[in-house]
Amino acid sequence: MADFEVSLAQEPDAASLIAAHPNLRMDPVDGLCLEGVPLAVIAKDLGTPCWVYGAGTIRTRLAALRDAFDQAGLGATHIHYAVKANDHLAVLTVMAEAGVGADVVSAGELQRALKAGIPPSAIVFSGVGKSAADLRLAVAEGIAQINVESVEELAMLSAISATAGRTIDVTLRVNPDVDAATHAKITTGKADNKFGIAWTEAAAAYGFAGSLPGLHPVGLATHIGSQILSAAPFRAAYARIAELVRDLRAAGHTVTRVDCGGGIGIPYEGEQPAPLAEIAQALAETLGGLDLDLMVEPGRWLVGPAGVLLSAVVLVKQTAERRFVVLDAAMNDLVRPAMYDAWHGILPVAADRMAAPATPADIVGPVCESGDTFAKDRVIAALEADAVVAILDAGAYGAVMSSTYNARPLATVALVDGSQWDVIRPRQEMSDLWSREIVPARFGTR
Ligand SMILES: Cc1ncc(COP(=O)(O)O)c(C=O)c1O
Repeated sequence: MADFEVSLAQEPDAASLIAAHPNLRMDPVDGLCLEGVPLAVIAKDLGTPCWVYGAGTIRTRLAALRDAFDQAGLGATHIHYAVKANDHLAVLTVMAEAGVGADVVSAGELQRALKAGIPPSAIVFSGVGKSAADLRLAVAEGIAQINVESVEELAMLSAISATAGRTIDVTLRVNPDVDAATHAKITTGKADNKFGIAWTEAAAAYGFAGSLPGLHPVGLATHIGSQILSAAPFRAAYARIAELVRDLRAAGHTVTRVDCGGGIGIPYEGEQPAPLAEIAQALAETLGGLDLDLMVEPGRWLVGPAGVLLSAVVLVKQTAERRFVVLDAAMNDLVRPAMYDAWHGILPVAADRMAAPATPADIVGPVCESGDTFAKDRVIAALEADAVVAILDAGAYGAVMSSTYNARPLATVALVDGSQWDVIRPRQEMSDLWSREIVPARFGTR
């Protein structure tokens, strides 16, 4: 398969980062604002580290995505938000209110989606290793569809569904063997990835699904990876799926649905934004004319730019080699830089810092790992202790991936909506860290 090139611009400066984020504004007095709320106010009231999400931003992005599908003649495309990107109940409620469904990958995500008011009829279940308990819950709740990833899972689901006296709609997740040209850890559509049924084996698996009790094969699904910034990989994958739809129909199978997965990327580092119109066009040109119910499962694109992580400088440490700005946020809060070498924009929150001279520094967390580094050699306004910074594009795969490593409580979360804001998760209490730990009675008595 061909590789797909993504052009990378120069590292963006503060002004261009703000310009690339319509939800951010640098007010000369109030400093950096998310939607209508000064982030300094939230940091002062709630302390740091603190996640802040923008509900208005999510709605605006959703409208833009819907508009792109409308423009391509795909207005009927169903959007199932990939809950894994940010599973907070308030975020899911924003999705529910906007009429968006959910793509879940665990019983926990399924229950979160239901709790937020997303109806079972708008929930699809993906994932390579759904457990029997996951599948039993999905069948009992009567969700819209299960995207099955192997013939082994087909057999398992059939037994569960038939025992429950139900018939469940299934799509087969096909691995199209397409290179998404993204980070290796989030590539999912190559033949050597664990995901999906090989496209060469999909027809046989579809026939097998149709022969099993309790299953109603309705179509195909695919998802080739995440953080994809060009249309070409999507076009290549969807063309292969379209070919399969035609082949299955020619063999006498009924195929009414295709779930096109997620994967649309966001420009973290000044890259060109993903060409939404071109991606929608690729979908229209490959699968649009096949009389299918089309679905997509975006996660990152909807919520990534809607969130920031606020953090305060603990101290600035100058060594013979480098200047280290040590933050109170760490890799346990936002793991993406440590895990994927991800680049995140970092902006001082105070207005006067915009004009301060910028010098290179390593921006690091306090955790005892060198990997706990948010940015290396970042040219950023001189920062002193207690200065607050906003780490941008932290709304997706941020708080959901947090841990309590180094016995650091989970950070506070706030939600901005226009000029209002609320705490949507208080900081975890220190005692919560060990409240469910048990020291056997025979210890501690010596
Ligand atoms: C099956 C499936 N659908 C959707 C998504 C969401 O991807 P993204 O957040 O890149 O849109 C993922 C994430 O990897 C996924 O595995």
